[in-house]
Amino acid sequence: MPSSKVAVITGTNSNLGLNIAYRLIEKSKPEETLTIVVTSRTLPRARECIEFIEKFVEKAGRKGSVNYDYLLVDFTSMVSVLDAYYTLTNRYDYINYFFVNAAQGVYAGIDWIGAVKEVCANPLEAVTNPTYKIQKVGVKSKDGMGLVFQANVFGPYYLIQKILPLLEAGKGTVVWISSIMAAPKYFSLQDIELLKSDVSYEGSKRLVDLLHIATFKEMQQKGVRQYLTHPGIFTSLSFFQYLNVFTYYGMLLLFYLARWIGSPWHNIQGYKAANAPVYVATLANPHFEKQHMKYGSATFRDGMEYIKTDEVDVTGSEDVYKYIKELKSKWDEKLKDQIKPTRAAL
Ligand SMILES: NC(=O)c1ccc[n+]([C@@H]2O[C@H](COP(=O)([O-])OP(=O)(O)OC[C@H]3O[C@@H](n4cnc5c(N)ncnc54)[C@H](OP(=O)(O)O)[C@@H]3O)[C@@H](O)[C@H]2O)c1
Repeated sequence: MPSSKVAVITGTNSNLGLNIAYRLIEKSKPEETLTIVVTSRTLPRARECIEFIEKFVEKAGRKGSVNYDYLLVDFTSMVSVLDAYYTLTNRYDYINYFFVNAAQGVYAGIDWIGAVKEVCANPLEAVTNPTYKIQKVGVKSKDGMGLVFQANVFGPYYLIQKILPLLEAGKGTVVWISSIMAAPKYFSLQDIELLKSDVSYEGSKRLVDLLHIATFKEMQQKGVRQYLTHPGIFTSLSFFQYLNVFTYYGMLLLFYLARWIGSPWHNIQGYKAANAPVYVATLANPHFEKQHMKYGSATFRDGMEYIKTDEVDVTGSEDVYKYIKELKSKWDEKLKDQIKPTRAAL
């Protein structure tokens, strides 16, 4: 294996994405050269993110060098996904780690009355499985797919399939980020693209679980390890826009209360939340067993972190996989003439 490693972290400029980068830098062999490929939809965010990681490396005083690269990709655009594939293939001979961290929901705000009622009725449940975030229904991407389905599941899946030769060459590890909110009740086989759902974000995470279960053995046969993880609950930068100083600190207080009551999932800090994703990529057992489990970042009451695994309900995984494989073939066909060799001699 090469003594230098390449890691792609999608949506790097998020609390979890940055902390995956930090922990990976800490856990990788100090003498190894590590290339972190950050991804964003915009150049300023990609640049900002590289600056954050550079500062972390400087402070950590790592022996081996860390190189930085960026990739602009929007998973709700298949042309952008294809472009990301071409870029990675042109720049790299192998990829060792691919973290599927980027995700989005289609939120319309918070049902504050519902939130107050939930907090009063059951504070622990209200900050573990909140149902007061209002999500829009039926939002499609410009490609005509369910937007959340494409952003969180199909777009990343398509890119992974396209870069499989690079992952095979790097004996790579693919790490999917799911959620504790990926319960079967949030997903229906009658609505795989989540267009009728008012819980499309949670449904997309259930799809991630099912897609992992359906594919990890195939990936293993190709020499690529694939793991399913979730980060527990932590402060998300993308949710700040809906909070003011009072509601933010109120939420934080409830998070600490939940941990103190005994919730293992209230990691609160992005660093603790990144434990499971980096653990499976770097430390999980050397024979790569237990890939059918879901690896969660957890904390004890005193804040000490640990890994907590759970079984996944596999009902529907084959149906989901069939749908997604057929969709991939359709998009292979649609995109086949997308990028032409314009420099070929006439
Ligand atoms: N926060 C929690 O408690 C929690 C709980 C369970 C699971 N998770 C999961 O943990 C992961 C990270 O969560 P977070 O709260 O740290 O993230 P976040 O703040 O919501 O940021 C998500 C990242 O994804 C990127 N992104 C969003 N839509 C994209 C698209 N269409 N194409 C490409 N990139 C896109 C964004 O990058 P740019 O804006 O730079 O393009 C952003 O950096 C997600 O998978 C989330 O579902 C979070």
